Amino acid sequence: MNNLNVDMCFNPRKLRDKLLLTLLVGGVLSCGKDDGSVPLDQMATYDVIQTQIWDTQCINCHVSGSTFAKQSDLILTSDISYSQLVNRQPNNKSAQEDGLELVGQEGLPSLFKSFLWEKINANDQEHFYSDHPLYGAIMPLGGDFLTNGQLEFIRDWIINGAPSDGMVADVTLLEDESRFEELEFEPLTAPESGFQFHLGPFEVEPNRDRELFYYEPIDIQEDIFISQVEIVMRPGSHHFIFYTFDDDVPIHIFPQEKTIRDLYDANDQVIANNLFPLLYHQFVAGTQWPRMNYRYPEGVALKLQGGKGFDLNAHYANRTDEVMVGEIYGNIHTVPESEVQHVAEILDLNHDDFSLPPQQVTTLTKDFFFNDKINIFQLFSHAHEHMTEFKVFKVGGVGDGDLLYIAYDWEHPPILELDPPIVLQAGEGLRLEATYNNWENRTLRFGLRSTDEMMILFGAYYKD
Ligand code: HEC
Repeated sequence: MNNLNVDMCFNPRKLRDKLLLTLLVGGVLSCGKDDGSVPLDQMATYDVIQTQIWDTQCINCHVSGSTFAKQSDLILTSDISYSQLVNRQPNNKSAQEDGLELVGQEGLPSLFKSFLWEKINANDQEHFYSDHPLYGAIMPLGGDFLTNGQLEFIRDWIINGAPSDGMVADVTLLEDESRFEELEFEPLTAPESGFQFHLGPFEVEPNRDRELFYYEPIDIQEDIFISQVEIVMRPGSHHFIFYTFDDDVPIHIFPQEKTIRDLYDANDQVIANNLFPLLYHQFVAGTQWPRMNYRYPEGVALKLQGGKGFDLNAHYANRTDEVMVGEIYGNIHTVPESEVQHVAEILDLNHDDFSLPPQQVTTLTKDFFFNDKINIFQLFSHAHEHMTEFKVFKVGGVGDGDLLYIAYDWEHPPILELDPPIVLQAGEGLRLEATYNNWENRTLRFGLRSTDEMMILFGAYYKD
């Protein structure tokens, strides 16, 4: 089992509440002083990084024995973090091939060759996601980005040769608690091989949800093989998903091409006719992030049957008093079949039979088992705003009970890319465990609106 409950003087993940977090940041800086330890401005720079950053935002995952530490081959606890980082090759293969080190000691040149820096520098996300689709996610995975002060502090440490001792960065930098927030929205360039889709711009009324669908046929009769998916959305989006349809959609239900189908009418009532096609949806790819660039592992591609199209699904939740504009670009990149060694399949584990009593915190658990051996290479959770924690554990076989995935943020759950994949032998399974805080005076159940709840694990896998 993994040890995720590490004792520490301050753990923002346990507080979860951003307001509390802000109030407590003063406490971060004085953390440890009470028991007579050295004030920050008298500590070695690396010790400040360790106690103020790694210990509070990283070691719940990067701790010896955890699945996350195995996936990343990186331990950041104070006993060995320095030697794990400095003058060490990244575990990520693509970063290795690009000649990066985790942290080098040549000063400024090392900054530009530092994989650690690439992984935490939220301000440069744009470059990170567009140029390096195989670098995984920005760290901390699933949490708030590091503050600009923390980043500046780490940057100074690297520029000054990343020493284990000595003071090379100014601790007052940590007082800057601003964080990188949103990426500017701009159109994607069309893929060299594949398709580009553009939805919108469309308006979203104040204090309303707008969920819509738009069917784009693809005029190709051969199967297509999807190797990469890029999505960018104007701010305010709850999610965007590419679906396709099952083979058995009755002809009278099959939607009209190139027409916006809203899920709710002007009175906020469900439009039943637009609900039926959803019963025949097959998930292809999607995200809750304003920007996603996902590439399947080398040799792996998702197959889409010839003649099928994509049903584009956008969901905006406008919690402001002003009209909001929604807009999305999506790129589907394809490869020739000859380049495909493993055909990817979509993992879509949906627990839709539950109720969450009012004014209570409830944890739901649901197990799913597989009949064949599968290799899972992507996982991400989907739930709505009452979800406070979403965990996935392995069930059965080697590593029974291991924590494989965790999300605390319903809006932007981490998309975990697993290379090498998690292998489940035939008969083994996954346990989904999600906790919800139902602060409302009504029972919550599964439903499509952002005010209803969901408990879904999406992902991708291939069979041998
Ligand atoms: C919720 C778990 C989680 C948290 C919290 C987390 N990480 Fe990670 N980290 C991972 C996983 C999983 C990977 C491998 C997948 C990837 O790179 O996206 C990883 C990979 C990395 C890598 C790349 C290692 C390599 O050699 O390929 C670095 C560097 C890293 N994390 C640094 C950090 C730092 C610094 C923090 C805290 C600021 C942090 N992580 C917080 C889970 C986590």
